[in-house]
Amino acid sequence: MPRKTTISLIKCDVGSLAGHYTVPKPLLNIAEKNLKTAKDQNLINSYYVFNAGDDLQLLMVHEKGESNPQIHELAWKTFHEAANKALQLKLYGAGQDLLKNAFSGNIRGLGPGVAEMEIEERGSDPIVIFAADKTSAGAFNFPLFRIFADPMSTAGLVIDPNMTEGFKFEVTDTIENKKAVIKTPEEMYELIALIGTVQRYMVSRVWRARDNMICAASSISKLSQIAGKYVGKDDPVMIVRAQHGLPAVGEILVPFMHSYLVEGWMRGSHWGPVMPVGLKDSKCTAFDGPPRLVALGFQIVNGGIACDDNGRPMIADLFDDPAFDMARHEALELATLLRRMGEFEPARLGPEEMEYTTIQQVLEKLRTRFTSA
Ligand code: F6R
Ligand code: MG
Ligand code: MG
Repeated sequence: MPRKTTISLIKCDVGSLAGHYTVPKPLLNIAEKNLKTAKDQNLINSYYVFNAGDDLQLLMVHEKGESNPQIHELAWKTFHEAANKALQLKLYGAGQDLLKNAFSGNIRGLGPGVAEMEIEERGSDPIVIFAADKTSAGAFNFPLFRIFADPMSTAGLVIDPNMTEGFKFEVTDTIENKKAVIKTPEEMYELIALIGTVQRYMVSRVWRARDNMICAASSISKLSQIAGKYVGKDDPVMIVRAQHGLPAVGEILVPFMHSYLVEGWMRGSHWGPVMPVGLKDSKCTAFDGPPRLVALGFQIVNGGIACDDNGRPMIADLFDDPAFDMARHEALELATLLRRMGEFEPARLGPEEMEYTTIQQVLEKLRTRFTSA
C-alpha cells in the first residue's frame, strides 16, 4: 500500500507590522515554536513557517488526513497565541481574520484559509504551494486554468500521454454554496464561462482524468461571507502536485511570467496586478500592494518534507528568480496605469464587491437634492 501523506497549508492574518505590510518576527517565532513542539510530539512530520505579506502561513506535512481536528486545533491555537502577541505589541489588525470563536474540530469557516491535500506518495512527489496577499479567493482561477487546461501553456496536455485525457475541475459556487465537477478538454468553454466570474465561482480541486489522481487544492473561503460583511480580503493559498504525468514545475510556473488582474489591493476595493515575488519581497507597500504572490517548492518523502543534512526542510523559493522580472515589471506598469484612474471604475471594484464604501452615506446626504431627471 502506498503511504498516504497530507499536506496542510493554513493561513491567517493575526496582525502585522506597519499597517498591513508584513508578519514580524515575534509572531513567526510563536508559529515556529508551536510547530516544532508538534513535530517533537509526532503530531506532524515536517513544517515550514513563512509569510505572504501580512498573512502568517503554516505549512504542515503529516499522516493524519485532511480536516484532522488535532492539526486544525494546532493551527487555531497558534493563530490565537500569535494574535495575543500582536495585541500586546499593539500591532495593526491584531486577530484580524479570527472571525468566529467557535472552534469545534475544524478551522474552516472561522476565518483562516485552508488548502489541504492527501496524496498517495509516488516514487517522487514534487509539490508547489502558492500564497497570495491583498487579493480574494478567485485569484487562482486563471492560473489553474492555464496549468491544467490550456494546451498553449502546458505542453504536457498535448505531448504527455498521461495527461491527454485531461483534468477534472471542482468548481464551487460561493453564493449558492454548491459545487460541480467539470471535465476538460471536453467542457473547456463551460469551465471558462463559470470560472471567468472570479467573484463567484472558484476552482477548489483538480484531479487527473485518467485515474482521478488529486493534483491541486485551493482555499476558497470568502471572509465577507463568513462575517456577513466586508472584513478584509481572503488572501488565498493553494497546493499543486507536479511532474511525472502531471504538469511539470516549469509548466506550473510559466503562467506567472505575466502579471494579471485580481480583486483586492487597497481596502479590498480595487483591481490590482499580481506580482510574483521571492520571500524577501513578500510584503505589501504601494497602495497596500501590489497584490503579492509567493511560490515554494519541496519534495515529499516518507510522510514529510525532504530535509538537508541538518534536518531543515529544503524549500525552493521559486519566484526568487529573474525569469519573473518581466511579470514584476508588468505588474508595476499595470499598477501605475490603474492608479492613474483613481477612484473611477474599472480601477475601483463595482459597489457590490467593495470592502469599504461610503455610497449609502453619500446618497443619504444628497437624497433631497435629487429631482426627476
Ligand atoms: C486590504 C487591506 C488594507 C486595508 C487598508 C485600510 O485587504 O487590508 O488595504 O484595507 O490599509 O485599513 P484600515 O481601514 O484598517 O485603516
Ligand atoms: Mg492585515
Ligand atoms: Mg493579508
